Amino acid sequence: MSRPGWRQRIEAARLVREATSRRRVRRLVERRRGMRFFVDGRELLNFSSNDYLGLSQHFTVASALQDGAAREGAGATAPHLECGHHAAHQALEREVADWLQVPAALLLGSGYLANLAVLQSLLGEGDACVQDRLNHASLVDGARLAGCKLRRYPHADAEGALRQLRAHTGGMAVVATDGLFGMDGDLAPLRQLAVVARVQGALLYVDDAHGVGVVGPEGRGSVAAAGLDHVAVPLQLVSLGKALGGYGAVLAGDTALVEHLAETARPYVHSTALPPALAHASLVAVRQARSQEWRRERLQGLIATFRALAGTAGLDLLPSDSPIQAVLVGADHAALAMSADLEDAGYWVGVVRAAPGQARLRVGLSALHTPAEVVGLVEAMARARDRVAAASPSPDPTIPEPA
Ligand SMILES: Cc1ncc(COP(=O)(O)O)c(C=O)c1O
Repeated sequence: MSRPGWRQRIEAARLVREATSRRRVRRLVERRRGMRFFVDGRELLNFSSNDYLGLSQHFTVASALQDGAAREGAGATAPHLECGHHAAHQALEREVADWLQVPAALLLGSGYLANLAVLQSLLGEGDACVQDRLNHASLVDGARLAGCKLRRYPHADAEGALRQLRAHTGGMAVVATDGLFGMDGDLAPLRQLAVVARVQGALLYVDDAHGVGVVGPEGRGSVAAAGLDHVAVPLQLVSLGKALGGYGAVLAGDTALVEHLAETARPYVHSTALPPALAHASLVAVRQARSQEWRRERLQGLIATFRALAGTAGLDLLPSDSPIQAVLVGADHAALAMSADLEDAGYWVGVVRAAPGQARLRVGLSALHTPAEVVGLVEAMARARDRVAAASPSPDPTIPEPA
């Protein structure tokens, strides 16, 4: 019998990643203090995290985790529907529902699992999931797991969503979009999408992993910022691992939907519940995020500083009023070289390799950064851009390209 061997398979895949500058490496964080990270033996100022409000090391959040662990131990010991549903989980669900002004909420192990859960439990063969082209990978994977038709529309194009829905009749449809896009930091056109979904009888699901805590009144996220409620958006995803600084996710919205998910979503039913101590810590983080408006105000000040300076320095900024600021670089190798140059200067900035020729540097701002640190970052980015351009001059336009 001839079968492809697994070693040859993975070696071929590795070579492709290498040839296309797509290798991924883990960096070892030895310790950290605020936004100062000690990485692979170097101290770097971190601009690549999602700790937008600076809550991940907040002493009240960390003490809640310690108290919770002292009382409840390290783990939940079972899924929610067995013996793993604890009072701390329920208290967190109630707190998030109250914050977002929705009737019900359900705690899941992670945002990735939550997206698999929602789409797998709602959709099947003959149904459609209509998605923004720049949605997070977990939404795409959720639709694949559901076995429904996956239809994608151009980024932030509500009319494109309408066209896709019109082309699919006869089955149920979900329109799924990031609320605040994790790659570029821009907002989805939620008001238009809500109209499209209503007219087409589709369910609008908003993955607001990056928006909750950051935008909207009381940090309630992009749905609230758009003036929408749980009737227009029956379900949304809240990440506990980004602005809230912990780990896990909460699905928030309509009661019947949440109850359906709790009984039928396989990633919920068949997975161990989040450690109750973590739920306890997230409850404290939610209260801080909700009440401490100064964190969002501080963040807005840093965003304005970054955009003004980056604009003056001639960096190619993509539109965003959020703590995610993307600078378009172009070729993958140029973005990687800029990131390496920034690291030599003491800054950690991630690279997003989107479509070919569209690589970006993704800057994640946090309320813990200082204005002076942001000034230093922009100066270092401009220097990195100039050095990388000087090292690889653009081709002489008088010399014809090889055929
Ligand atoms: C938009 C979006 N949804 C979901 C996820 C997955 O969330 P988690 O990291 O909790 O699995 C992410 C993670 O980056 C994300 O950006």
